[in-house]
Amino acid sequence: MPLMSDSPLPHLGGLTAAEFLRDYWQKKPLLVRNAFPELAYRLSDEDLKELAQEESVEARIVLEKGKTPWELRKGPFDAKALKALPKTHWTLLVQAVDHYLPALADYLAHFAFIPDWRIDDIMVSYAVEGGSVGPHFDQYDVFLIQGFGNRRWQLGQHCDENSPRVDGTPLRILQQIDVHFDEVVNPGDLLYVPPGMAHFGVAQNECTTYSVGFRAPSLAHVLERVVDAALEAAGSNRLFTDAGRAATAHPAALAEADLEALRAQVLTLLDDRDTLRHALAPFLSEPKYDDYEPQGEELSLAEIREALAAGAVLRRDPASRCLYTLKDGRPDELFVNGRKEWFPPALVDFVQLLADQRQLAADQLAPWLADEDALHWLADQMASGHWFLDSDE
Ligand code: SIN
Ligand code: CO
Repeated sequence: MPLMSDSPLPHLGGLTAAEFLRDYWQKKPLLVRNAFPELAYRLSDEDLKELAQEESVEARIVLEKGKTPWELRKGPFDAKALKALPKTHWTLLVQAVDHYLPALADYLAHFAFIPDWRIDDIMVSYAVEGGSVGPHFDQYDVFLIQGFGNRRWQLGQHCDENSPRVDGTPLRILQQIDVHFDEVVNPGDLLYVPPGMAHFGVAQNECTTYSVGFRAPSLAHVLERVVDAALEAAGSNRLFTDAGRAATAHPAALAEADLEALRAQVLTLLDDRDTLRHALAPFLSEPKYDDYEPQGEELSLAEIREALAAGAVLRRDPASRCLYTLKDGRPDELFVNGRKEWFPPALVDFVQLLADQRQLAADQLAPWLADEDALHWLADQMASGHWFLDSDE
């Protein structure tokens, strides 16, 4: 899978990752025709309707002309409710489909030039003719990939929390979209939409749309974590110091020089790379769903070797989030789902390979299959559900 930033990527219309990041990411939209032709029929409406009936799956239906305009219904949905929907103007949206279908999660490797901790999930929607979630904006970057059928996408102005919205609907529908882009997309087409840009997609016929969505931590949350870690590192009873202060003529004043000294001393507590790393690595490796507990399987080393030899691939659990810190450019500490996972220092290359890839076949793992320590560590991780063997390839 392309991890290099200097080779032209067909799914970015021939741009290199570096060019895309320089000119488009968080800045402007990009339409690429026929970027992922094989994705078009990956999932049927029946697949999505089945997922939408599961208790553990986050699903929504938006009806433009429901009991109220832009009615929002939350799943799970039973088969009867799904059958009773009107002929036109509704959309079923299923969140985190990549968590349930590892083969879909593999598509995320095409975007691996952006770190995993920025990825949210792949949402898949199924819409009937006229189906839409209305003109709106999202706070996050999204790659919209057209599945089967056609959708008309209109893109508009940059918005923020003050942009006027339609009242009386639980959805955040914009009152107005100043269209500067108007295209009908076909199966496999990709449309990148930067955060804050108004967008409005209307199904021209029955269609599916895959949203490869990103997340960004709120700086308030980052600051909270960093402050907690800084207090832990410095001790919470450190006091302000002012040896050598100048005499004041206005004892009631909060002087600029004192403000500056306070600012400098607080920033010194926060301005420490180790504290930042220690605070943020567990935080940024938290899974999308905070109650998520992977299901593991206990396997012997012989069973692992046999399965791989028989053609199984080793997959990283798509619903788990894996992140390592670096020391001198090498992996240092590994975190999975917010928790630190110890590994023997001699396995640093093995751990890096496993963490960076979504799936590995026996030949890619070959150098490690004779290493008992490596396989023991892997077996422990598989028992925790962080990696698993997939024989359905
Ligand atoms: C959709 O799939 O219908 C909506 C995706 C979006 O606008 O973010
Ligand atoms: Co959107």
